[in-house]
Amino acid sequence: MIRPLVIAVDGPAASGKGTIAAGLARVYGLPQLDTGLLYRAVGVAVLAKGGRLDDEGLAAQVAKTLDLTLLDIPAHRTRAAGEAASQVAVHPAVRLALLEAQQAFARQPTGAVIDGRDIGTVIAPNAIAKLFVTASPEVRAQRRWKQLSGQGETVSLAEVLEDIRIRDARDSARDSAPLTRADDAILLDTSRMTIDEAADAARRIVEAARIRSNG
Ligand code: C5P
Repeated sequence: MIRPLVIAVDGPAASGKGTIAAGLARVYGLPQLDTGLLYRAVGVAVLAKGGRLDDEGLAAQVAKTLDLTLLDIPAHRTRAAGEAASQVAVHPAVRLALLEAQQAFARQPTGAVIDGRDIGTVIAPNAIAKLFVTASPEVRAQRRWKQLSGQGETVSLAEVLEDIRIRDARDSARDSAPLTRADDAILLDTSRMTIDEAADAARRIVEAARIRSNG
């Protein structure tokens, strides 16, 4: 039996995984879920309620009642939203509250492309293709700085690099579903690649995984 094509794309902030995931979704005609937006939405909503990001109970309550149709909005793409996301993402109760929706997305008969930090390890461990996308902190900072500046945020490259280092450390060190490469994920370092080169490399990795899975 041919299994639905589920593609897990993990990696640190601004590694290019979102662009790669969107490209793969287009090529294969699959629905895509950017799971970072879930955590961003929770962080932003906690702050909007006047709550604290270290209040696990409040953050979990917000996560349970999240409106999944309202994820991709500009307020979730800001620097502050990324930082808030990473702080609420350390809470096991928040991760648990978001687990089922993500796993349901991965179970769709159409297949799916899902990107985040724990997709290949926790959300979709049986995905047919797993990519771990990375790039040097300096390259990622440059990319994120361009994106944030383009959105009208006033922030220096040095501040963005510092954000990235803090976020990498927090995401990798947490106990609950830390950022880590699954044993069977293929590493794709995009530091020296253009967007098109990275997209091509990702497609080759998925094609090889599909051939393997069809035996
Ligand atoms: O990918 P993005 O930068 O939008 O993610 C924001 C934050 O959400 C990450 O720094 C991470 O802490 C958290 N996250 C996570 N697990 C995921 C996706 C994102 O912990 N699957």
